Amino acid sequence: MTRLIIDTDPGVDDAFAIALAAREPGIDLLAVTTVAGNIGLDLTTRNALGVLALCDRPDVPVAAGAHRPFSRPVRGDTAHGVDGLGGAAAVLPEPSAQPDPRGAVQLMVDVLTASDEPVTIVAIGPLTNVALLLAAYPSVRQKIERLVIMGGGIAGGNITTAAEFNIWVDPEAARRVLVEEDVPTTLVPLDVTMRCSVGDDWLNRLARSGPVGSALAAITPHYRAWYAEFFGRDDFVMHDALAVAEVIQPGLLRTTPLRLEVDCSDGPSSGATLADRRGGVHQDPGRLVDVALDADPDTIRSFILERLT
Ligand code: BDR
Ligand code: CA
Repeated sequence: MTRLIIDTDPGVDDAFAIALAAREPGIDLLAVTTVAGNIGLDLTTRNALGVLALCDRPDVPVAAGAHRPFSRPVRGDTAHGVDGLGGAAAVLPEPSAQPDPRGAVQLMVDVLTASDEPVTIVAIGPLTNVALLLAAYPSVRQKIERLVIMGGGIAGGNITTAAEFNIWVDPEAARRVLVEEDVPTTLVPLDVTMRCSVGDDWLNRLARSGPVGSALAAITPHYRAWYAEFFGRDDFVMHDALAVAEVIQPGLLRTTPLRLEVDCSDGPSSGATLADRRGGVHQDPGRLVDVALDADPDTIRSFILERLT
């Protein structure tokens, strides 16, 4: 059984990721914490509660965290529509649970401290909450089995030419977590997620599978249209669900240990994730992150679909 905390900014693909974890028998979902990212904090928190209600998991505590990045303005992502769920948040049931009053960082601390086994944290939004946790409570690092982070793009970005959205929103937090900390970390960047896109057949099978699948399918049209408009693609990408899939089955994504840097400047590559792939004598000493650069796309698509249906 993998004990798990999800830190998230739902977000269409975040909703899929939460549902994947909430319905997985091998996952003990201990908490969901929210952060401003795809949309503002009030909506990411409400959406997380709604997805858990859809999955009949009102028992999972949800707590709101940072309402803005460390030192940058709030910048959302139009891919996820006006409510963060493609304008279709109303398809989710009204949540019966309220946000946990402790807030995201305190809830993570309490869950980690109380656990007698190490806990995995999957972070699928900007890294503000995770950086705050590690900075303010360094002793909890020993309770973290692994961070699995969806973010970055070694070969290029999505929100800008150079930067991936989650890192671009709060590069200072990302640098703290990916460069300055030493908790074992797997990074799931665009390099692998963009290869594992899904399309009509996948979506139709999901929609026909029952109430959870049909509600998840109902939040995708705006997101899908955005992929067509911005990338000229007929398919779309469930970035965050890949990070949870890797938690469910460690090793599903093929990783390479790399030293990373995050561009915290305000220049054209602000928020870029840089990987040192020179090898040999050029390698600076420092922390290695397992970067998922490869996976079998058909295996990933089936893995996610089978578990959601
Ligand atoms: C990441 O940014 C958000 O738009 C998605 O939810 C995902 O976490 C992809 O770049
Ligand atoms: Ca996200």
